[in-house]
Amino acid sequence: MCGIIGYVGEKKNALKVLITGLKALEYRGYDSSGIAYFKNQKIEVAKEKGKIEKLEKILNLSTSSNIGIAHTRWATCGIPDKINAHPHSSGKITIVHNGIIENYEQLKKELEKEGYHFISQTDSETIAVLLDKYYKESQDILKSIIKTKKRLTGSYALAILCEDIPSKIFAIRKDNPLIIAKSNDASFIASDIPAILNYTNQYYILDENEIAILSKDKIDFKNDTLETINKKVLTFNGDKNSSTKGDFSHYMLKEIFEEKDVIKRIVKDYNDIDQLIQNLSFLKKYKKFDIVACGSAYHIGVIAKYLIEEHISIPVNVEVASEYRYKNNFLDNESLAIFISQSGETADTLACVRKVKEKNIDTLGIINVEESSIAREVDYAIYTKAGPEIAVATTKAFLAQLIIIVLITLYLGYEKKYFTKEFLNERLNELSNMDSDIDTILNSSYEKMAKIIAKHQNVFFLGRNIDYGIALEASLKLKEISYIHSEAYPAGELKHGTISLIEKNTPVISILTKNSTFDKTINNIKEVKTRGAYSIIISTKKIADTEEIILIPEKNELLLPILAIIPLQLLAYHVASIRGCDIDKPRNLAKSVTVE
Ligand code: G6P
Repeated sequence: MCGIIGYVGEKKNALKVLITGLKALEYRGYDSSGIAYFKNQKIEVAKEKGKIEKLEKILNLSTSSNIGIAHTRWATCGIPDKINAHPHSSGKITIVHNGIIENYEQLKKELEKEGYHFISQTDSETIAVLLDKYYKESQDILKSIIKTKKRLTGSYALAILCEDIPSKIFAIRKDNPLIIAKSNDASFIASDIPAILNYTNQYYILDENEIAILSKDKIDFKNDTLETINKKVLTFNGDKNSSTKGDFSHYMLKEIFEEKDVIKRIVKDYNDIDQLIQNLSFLKKYKKFDIVACGSAYHIGVIAKYLIEEHISIPVNVEVASEYRYKNNFLDNESLAIFISQSGETADTLACVRKVKEKNIDTLGIINVEESSIAREVDYAIYTKAGPEIAVATTKAFLAQLIIIVLITLYLGYEKKYFTKEFLNERLNELSNMDSDIDTILNSSYEKMAKIIAKHQNVFFLGRNIDYGIALEASLKLKEISYIHSEAYPAGELKHGTISLIEKNTPVISILTKNSTFDKTINNIKEVKTRGAYSIIISTKKIADTEEIILIPEKNELLLPILAIIPLQLLAYHVASIRGCDIDKPRNLAKSVTVE
């Protein structure tokens, strides 16, 4: 949800560094982009509507400058055009902003009365104007920043330049991520780590109520009363190349192909019963779970509910975070609130963590980005170890979350004596030996089915029980990257209205990994086939009378969702590819949604 990068360094290559950094952050939004840099002691600004390559074309990247800030936008307030693109300037101040200022209309009215003039429709311009006003009054940038912060309601990550101070970048944040990093000869601000990995793996996390002051040779951190703060430097140990596409045509495809490695990485930490006990024993005291998440992570919650309620008999309530944050919950001191998030920064999920914590309820985060806000605020964190995920549509991070849920089910099942030691060991063994099964899935051809699906405007996904959870995710994957309308239905529910949309050749994709509901789902497939549907089935066994079948290897049922989702991710990918869609950056989306 908007990407910010800032650079101040010895070398005068700021424009190149900033454009490269923006490209690494483009997954956060790509409606427009812009850059501000010092040239001959003056701030120059350039902006363009559309993707970063359009901005790159209008810049002379060899312009001599050693300091600048840049932004890639996911529009919230004001249409995506050049005027609303960041940076925004007022007087000597130029800023880039990620977040949303909720009281901007009121502030704008107040500032207009004082004679200030606004040119954009954005909330962000208000910040630049407020800073300008306080700076004119005090000629002190730090005091102006503190005063401005006090006036802002909402969320922000902000990088600030002041024309009187051509050697420094200032940064603050509230409820939006911002990291600060130092290499040998430069300092950086960024919304996320991949943007700085070419230069350093050492970084700080800016906390709320802190100001970072970046110069080429040092970074100072101050609190609200301008006292110096000493901060702990963190090291990113992940693979720097995981943020590059390699030989793959898209990040999404590369990330699907990385799923085997992700499984291995997770299983290494949960190799046997002792490790499961060591890592998960904190879970055993809870008698009910609330699972809260957004998007694909919410679908993991749905799958978890089916798995945990069926195998462990613990009640699980699963809700999307944007709803949960505004309704009552029924947690008590025997409850654990579980928050699932790839980014660890999703605004609604983070707000729910805080809401639950106010009631002193224990919290667990299942998170991919270590050191993210949610990871730092929950009582317990389980890391999904999927590595940086660049494609906006999640694949490997989803799979990693799924594996963690399976491991939690296995552990609790063992702990509560539903599963024997032998059963547990067999499942862990199966999980460690999935390589050739996944290879078979990866090397199968989906083109023929994809070509048929690509011609349609409506697709349905059916499943019962856990297969319904998989259907939800498969449907979201298809619609977000191919722009085909699709819906996932519990297989028995379609006939209560929606079946009226089934016409001759409407693709209906059914997932059948669950034995106990197998025959029931088959009946539902017959209902849609009778009405002309083109039926595709995902199953471990051959089924007569279906147009297409995607066979997945036989495994214990607990593990089948892992194998079922991979072909569905690939199918969505191929459909989107045939339709010529921008697979890694689908329209209107952003990977990290840090506004409400
Ligand atoms: C966005 C992304 C989805 C993701 C959801 C939750 O909508 O496009 O892929 O599932 O946010 O994100 P999180 O980082 O909390 O898992």
